[in-house]
Amino acid sequence: MTQSLVIAVDGPAASGKGTIAARLAREYGLPHLDTGLLYRAVGMKVLADGHDLADEAAAVAAAQSLVPTGLSDDERLTTGEAGEAASRVAGYPGVRAALLDLQQAFARQPGGAVLDGRDIGTVITPDAPAKLFVTATPEVRASRRWKQLTARGFDIAYEAMLTDIRIRDERDAGRGAAPMVQAEDAVLLDTTDLSIEAAFDAARRIVEAARAKHGL
Ligand code: C5P
Repeated sequence: MTQSLVIAVDGPAASGKGTIAARLAREYGLPHLDTGLLYRAVGMKVLADGHDLADEAAAVAAAQSLVPTGLSDDERLTTGEAGEAASRVAGYPGVRAALLDLQQAFARQPGGAVLDGRDIGTVITPDAPAKLFVTATPEVRASRRWKQLTARGFDIAYEAMLTDIRIRDERDAGRGAAPMVQAEDAVLLDTTDLSIEAAFDAARRIVEAARAKHGL
């Protein structure tokens, strides 16, 4: 079977993985799925329906009825509240199971696709020919997120941002269901000291090496 160019981009919050994934998609003319948006939409649906995030059955029902269109245009999904809600519901195996097929179907598109998240290279597309694990220190990630949010007019303290990032890392890496972990065959890309341009360049070189290796 000939492989297609599936690019799996995993990593923690504010590591730069979303920007890198979007740029890679543009570079190679591939469709891009930000899988964090799915979990964010599920978390916000639970809250909008008046349920508690601790209500696993409500979260699974929200995931099963999710309509995955128009999510990237929904401003509410970009908030810290949505990220926090996402990471709470993402720990429920039933939520992850409900979102599995649609992510795998996205990855199977002819020609390939770029997906970014936490478990793309380990669970969603373990056979992807190109896998990146993008990271940076918690301090640098908190500072990036702080700059983004203050530029958008949010009044938030850097220290609070750093605490949020640490809590989210711990929850995402420590959960039993599809924890955030670097796939054995993923290439680590540490963006701590890199500009967006330099990080993208490094990512492109990783994908080029994977293409050469797999004849893609
Ligand atoms: O990447 P983003 O910050 O939008 O993800 C929000 C949350 O959704 C993450 O903290 C994580 O708990 C969850 N998530 C996940 N698996 C993915 C993508 C996101 O568990 N593939």
